[in-house]
Amino acid sequence: MSDLSNRGSFATRLGFVMAAAGSAVGLGNIWKFPYITGEYGGGAFVLVYLLCIALVGLPLMYAELIIGRRGGKDILSSLLALTKDSGPLGTAASWVIGGMAVASGFLILSFYSVVAGWALSFFAAYAGLLPLQGGEQMFNALVSSKTSIPWHTVFMLLSVGVVTLGVHKGIETACKILMPALFVILVILLGYVAVEGGLAESARFLFAPDFHKLTGEAVLEALGHAFFTLSLGMGAMVTYGSYLPDEGAVVRDGVVVALLDTVIALMAGLVIFAVVFSHGGTPGAGPGLVFVSLPSLFATMPGGQLFGLAFFALLVFAAWSSAISLLEVVVAFLVDKVGMDRRVAALGAGLAIWALGLLSATDIDWLGRFDDLTTNYMLPLGGLGIALAAGWLVSKTDREAGFRVLGPLGEPLAAAWTFTIRFVTPLLVGLVILSKIGVFSAEEPPAPPAEVDEASPVDTDEDP
Ligand code: PHE
Repeated sequence: MSDLSNRGSFATRLGFVMAAAGSAVGLGNIWKFPYITGEYGGGAFVLVYLLCIALVGLPLMYAELIIGRRGGKDILSSLLALTKDSGPLGTAASWVIGGMAVASGFLILSFYSVVAGWALSFFAAYAGLLPLQGGEQMFNALVSSKTSIPWHTVFMLLSVGVVTLGVHKGIETACKILMPALFVILVILLGYVAVEGGLAESARFLFAPDFHKLTGEAVLEALGHAFFTLSLGMGAMVTYGSYLPDEGAVVRDGVVVALLDTVIALMAGLVIFAVVFSHGGTPGAGPGLVFVSLPSLFATMPGGQLFGLAFFALLVFAAWSSAISLLEVVVAFLVDKVGMDRRVAALGAGLAIWALGLLSATDIDWLGRFDDLTTNYMLPLGGLGIALAAGWLVSKTDREAGFRVLGPLGEPLAAAWTFTIRFVTPLLVGLVILSKIGVFSAEEPPAPPAEVDEASPVDTDEDP
């Protein structure tokens, strides 16, 4: 576990897995996954999401980790180093992919920190530090005034603080505490709903697919979310991979991280929908599901305040370890590529991201715009770029390094992965991006306004 350069590294394999899982498990798992699953109708959406994780997420996870490990630096520098032999194409691709990745980290953290700030303020309320009001009241106060700015500020300070301390002392240590704590809280909450009721209905909602509810839009959302939840498409896993001492466990650890992320999202979904179903909430409540519906349901539950405290601690822990990785993408770039001191880089980037975050903190429409731009466009585009670079521009020696250490199993696995990352992943992601920008729907004739009353024969129930 030598640390030849002084850019830092993870001290242990467990430390790396905790950090990478910490990055993956975040607001995406506990806030977003449940509410989009609720909006898109449950089981069928979950199934598509799991498929996206397996077909697109896993191959890309390996691609990012191996690029980081072999490149040994931030995403841009790593790509430049590994695509050297591909000439100007490699250099140009590296700048586009790397530049967009750093920009994504910057943009995502700016709104992520605002949502994490909401969670912090709910946590403070359940801890008795603030007056505890109804969820709707507290949430409206947060999004409609400047109330969320101090929380956004505190959360950014927490994230900058950890990143300033470095890879081992800061990130690894924090995640080795946060991740087990998060898991224990989640198990306790699951235990509670198992006793309190609602778990069976919740499980049915999540796992019994009803394909009538599946829309094309849901498939796109599932793929976008697979990127977001696994922290892919913007170099977080490249950056963490660059702090690995060797390629010994890249394949296995990548799978472990994806599994942990998936299991934790499903557990969070089980808990949340159990509360929703047993206390008369609606699953399709949207982004307010966790911040508006749950608190009002907690208020009617025995031990609800303690449950709320634990739940928002869970959300804050998850968000914190993810925010660290978002900031680290930017900081690693400033340290490795620009040559800045880590502390200066962390403070400077933190300050700039905080300032941009003020937009989302004061106007929820901005939050939506940044979320849409990054999750739906920049991450899939980044993922497409990384897949193509890993498959076509990086040398076989570098790109298959993680499989070579696996013994006889390595060769067929490497062949399967190479095929996937060259053809399958780009095809799937490419199709999704094309349909996002409306390429397919453009072929359909635009519906004339007169056709709107197609539904009129059954629309008579409004008559008195
Ligand atoms: N994976 C994190 C989540 O689910 C978000 C994230 C995206 C973190 C991209 C880092 C990079 O909340």
